[in-house]
Amino acid sequence: MDELRKFVAPEFIFGPGALDSTGSYARQFAADKALVVTDEGVLGAGWAQKVAASLEKEGLATEIYSNISPNPRDHEVMEGAETFLKTGCDLIVAVGGGSPIDCAKGIGIVSSNEQHILEFEGIDRVPVPGPPLICVPTTAGSSADISQFSIICDSSRMVKIAIISKSLVPDLSLIDPATTTTLPKNLTAETGMDALVHAIEAYVSNASSPITDINAIKAVSLIREHLPQALNHPLDMDHRYNMMLASLLAGLAFSNASLGLVHAMAHSLGGRFDLSHGESNAILLAPVVDFNFHHAREKYSDLALAMGLEPFRNPEETRQGLLETLADFGKGLGITTRLSHLGISKKELPALAGFAMTDPCIVTNPVMPTQKEVEEIYAKTI
Ligand SMILES: [Fe+2]
Repeated sequence: MDELRKFVAPEFIFGPGALDSTGSYARQFAADKALVVTDEGVLGAGWAQKVAASLEKEGLATEIYSNISPNPRDHEVMEGAETFLKTGCDLIVAVGGGSPIDCAKGIGIVSSNEQHILEFEGIDRVPVPGPPLICVPTTAGSSADISQFSIICDSSRMVKIAIISKSLVPDLSLIDPATTTTLPKNLTAETGMDALVHAIEAYVSNASSPITDINAIKAVSLIREHLPQALNHPLDMDHRYNMMLASLLAGLAFSNASLGLVHAMAHSLGGRFDLSHGESNAILLAPVVDFNFHHAREKYSDLALAMGLEPFRNPEETRQGLLETLADFGKGLGITTRLSHLGISKKELPALAGFAMTDPCIVTNPVMPTQKEVEEIYAKTI
């Protein structure tokens, strides 16, 4: 209660139609040419073209860069930065989920610092901020559009690195829930589970504050209520709106309170096996809550209530109730509960645990695990 906490967030416009104002906001940056950073899925849905049309309507030239994997690679960032510099762009507009947005953040800092993307790994290691960055998120999950994080895959070592810096906070986010209506069912489920894990990890984080807590706990109750419904009624704007809101609130929480062991372990998996980030998080959530529970009992009790449970008589009942609810919630969304279903075997676990121990997200977990304990948590999901 007596600790100082800072809270960083970009300017954002939230609501249906936000995407259409990209051009007029871009003009405020006095830019002439925008690099639109996106991926093939978002191009297929037509959102990137809509953003480009809005920019062109306001007199800006555009260049599209879309060679981005679901877990964006270092060389894709470098190629994007080369395109930005070669084509004379002076503004970046990221359109998509966490992958294009994280890549766009990387393109920005590589362009302004003329350094390799992997040299920025860690906390506050970006000397010069990138050019102006506008984000138009198209998933209700990553919150990369408002966070100070960028996660990039080091393709030679096959590990994900985290870059955390105030310089990565976008200048503006245009958050339009309509963009999520075209998401395939599996991505709605996986990105929604990512948002749930953001909220839960931020709430129990060692760096949480009353301001991050308010955002995190509200996000949990919104996701519990609206994620299953968004899956069953993909065109219902009420559920899409509330999921986008939940993702935003979870993002404001985790960008400032950081995350925990689920993300440290999921980053390790994603780097080595190129797995879906949301799916990895969903599989690891209950085993990590089980491990952490007694180190943040009161906070987990609040989370149990936000997940719709009645108050329990004692901590053990709360632990059991919360674990069952989280597992059932993921299963109800059609997400697998076992890493073995994704082809991961026990012999991989020591290396996975080793990388998870070095991830910056582990620092704010309610308790610091040993490498052996991390291995045991992975083993529970095989
Ligand atoms: Fe995440």
